Amino acid sequence: MKIFAYGIREDEEPSLKKWEQANPDVEVGFTNNMLTADSARMAEGADGVVTLQTADYTREALEVLHNLGIKYISIRNVGFDNFNFQDLNDFGFTLTNVPVYSPNAIAEHAVLLMGRLLRRTPEFAQKIEDGNFTWAPTIGKEYREQTVGVIGTGHIGRVVMQILKGFGCKIVAYDVYHNPEIEKQGLYVDTLEELYKQADIITLHVPLFDSNKYMINDKAIEQMKDGVYIINCARGELVDTDALIKGLDSGKVAGAGLDVIDNENSVFGKKWSSIDNIPNEKIRNLAKRLNVIVTPHSAFYTETAIHNMITTSFDSNKSLIEGLKPDNIVDTNK
Ligand code: NAD
Ligand code: COI
Repeated sequence: MKIFAYGIREDEEPSLKKWEQANPDVEVGFTNNMLTADSARMAEGADGVVTLQTADYTREALEVLHNLGIKYISIRNVGFDNFNFQDLNDFGFTLTNVPVYSPNAIAEHAVLLMGRLLRRTPEFAQKIEDGNFTWAPTIGKEYREQTVGVIGTGHIGRVVMQILKGFGCKIVAYDVYHNPEIEKQGLYVDTLEELYKQADIITLHVPLFDSNKYMINDKAIEQMKDGVYIINCARGELVDTDALIKGLDSGKVAGAGLDVIDNENSVFGKKWSSIDNIPNEKIRNLAKRLNVIVTPHSAFYTETAIHNMITTSFDSNKSLIEGLKPDNIVDTNK
């Protein structure tokens, strides 16, 4: 059997090599190109495809794979919001994801963003750069004085809560599904409005759907506490960037930690000559502020995560080709 993989980076190759050694019955081909209508032709002769990208998977690319007789696609990541399920179903694809490659990678990143904002580390870094080794007025806040509102108590949100408990934060949580463990601790509030009212820091850990696009908009921000911090390590489209910028300008929002931003693909993943030359005015606006920390969708990017992403995605694709039903098949009929 043959599996062809897209978007393979150098840092993934050692884990891929190990997987190949453990699975000598599988021929593996790969490219560092993303999966597009053009690159899809490279999968000729393969039984399944493994891929990872943050850009949308086009219908044209899927059609080429379909015409090559490929039925199985395994993504190396959690979120599958960049697939159109109708396209997948029209061409009869079965899709798997890697739901739990390392929730800790993302959760730790989110908590670090909170801490860096609370202790105003970008401002101190700028001061040091300017030769200013003084304290005032860059006074910080402590985690234990904060109420953190966690939106989404799935794999990542729950690790965030666990870490924050260690720092002594008060936690309130919101989720459409109530996890029994969190329920037992009495941490759920019934509405987002209630969470907005109580939280000093709000952190997003929900998948992106059409129904929650721009859930953090003018109205939501208006309902938040003055001086709220907003952390987004989930999906950029959950936050209306204009509303966030407005909130930062007015001081309603004290700061933001953004690993993901709406339309991030226009900037992320590429090297620019300077921040002034990035082709996205809103991202430039945010990234230049000392009370905003932008990271390039790198919350996931740890050695542990990369190894698990490769191993699970290739295992799943192999299982599908063998006619098995791995338990990480994405329900594309929802
Ligand atoms: P998960 O499926 O384990 O948990 C998601 C939770 O959100 C579930 O408990 C679900 O009930 C809840 N939920 C769904 N819709 C909701 C809504 N409208 N309102 C409130 N709660 C809702 O997923 P996870 O592993 O915790 O990941 C969460 C998201 O994080 C992923 O979907 C992905 O978009 C993002 N992510 C980002 C990175 C990164 O590198 N920045 C890496 C991995 C995942
Ligand atoms: C995910 O796993 O959903 C991520 O956001 C990671 C990214 C590399 C696609």
